[in-house]
Amino acid sequence: MMDWTDRHCRVFHRHLTRHALLYTEMVTTGAVIHGDRARLLGFDASEHPVALQLGGSDPRELALAAQIGADFGYDEINLNVGCPSDRVQDGRFGACLMAEPALVASCVDAMKRAVRVPVTVKCRIGIDDQDPEVALDALARAVVAAGSDVLIVHARKAWLNGLSPKENRDIPPLDYDRVYRLKRAMPDVPIIINGGISGIEEAKAHLAHVDGVMLGRAAYHDPWRLLAVDPEFFGEAAPHATMQAAFEAMTPYIAEQLARGTRLHAITRHFVGAFHAVPGARAFRRHLAEHGTRPGAGLDVLRDAIARVSDRAVAEAAE
Ligand SMILES: Cc1cc2nc3c(=O)[nH]c(=O)nc-3n(C[C@H](O)[C@H](O)[C@H](O)COP(=O)(O)O)c2cc1C
Repeated sequence: MMDWTDRHCRVFHRHLTRHALLYTEMVTTGAVIHGDRARLLGFDASEHPVALQLGGSDPRELALAAQIGADFGYDEINLNVGCPSDRVQDGRFGACLMAEPALVASCVDAMKRAVRVPVTVKCRIGIDDQDPEVALDALARAVVAAGSDVLIVHARKAWLNGLSPKENRDIPPLDYDRVYRLKRAMPDVPIIINGGISGIEEAKAHLAHVDGVMLGRAAYHDPWRLLAVDPEFFGEAAPHATMQAAFEAMTPYIAEQLARGTRLHAITRHFVGAFHAVPGARAFRRHLAEHGTRPGAGLDVLRDAIARVSDRAVAEAAE
């Protein structure tokens, strides 16, 4: 998610679940090919498994960007066919590609030829006045025939005229049944459902119909929920028994980043929801906001913030 799931966020989330697949923010092919690759694509080895999401619609550029991503060590390359922003429409990629399944198929084909890691597509159920029954099937069949290994479906339309990107994440109604029908129509294709799923119990209910669940805002705003992912879905204990233990384990990473000149706030801004509804959570947040943003703020600020809050155990996260 743009501006949210940067490398620091992903390292934090990886301390909460070893197994969930993490995704980068969308990076455009132009940025990958011409930009500062180390800054845009660099990630910490602890983040695996991690997927790189690309935005673009030129098969040759996508193939090159996918190859660069695979060379960086990403475990999956994902193509964005769901982002509704104007900036993205001008570049003819993102959600507007729902209207061009043949072009998206050429993109997937080119990416598949360029890399050995899985190539996946994240899409909507349709855009504007498209009939989702037709549009989603057309897109899905085209990209699967071209080799897409997995399809992630944000279970609502994007309305490209008249709604902001933010409104496009809430206003078009969710239609989970449409995604379930896609799975029934294409039983051999791994289908991941996304959109409005707020916790572990809801995720479990979806798994009766599809192969996986992608959490966006819930994972970011309530990262503590991720502590339940490994025990509930992967039959393994969480990496740490409590949120405070996860932070303790993250301190070498934070120290290393601070030594490289990263500001503490760039990392701790992702911790805001860590202790949601736990006694002292507000004091934790306030301490980080007041002291973590100061130039030169160090690990002591995080330790002092943590000292203000009760701990959060794994057991609560499954609720
Ligand atoms: C701040 C923000 C940035 C986002 N950036 C991306 C993005 O870069 N690529 C993408 O595929 N989806 C992006 N999304 C959409 C989410 O991945 C997800 O599809 C959407 O929020 C619905 O799922 P949720 O209800 O679990 O959040 C973004 C969402 C938010 C809130």
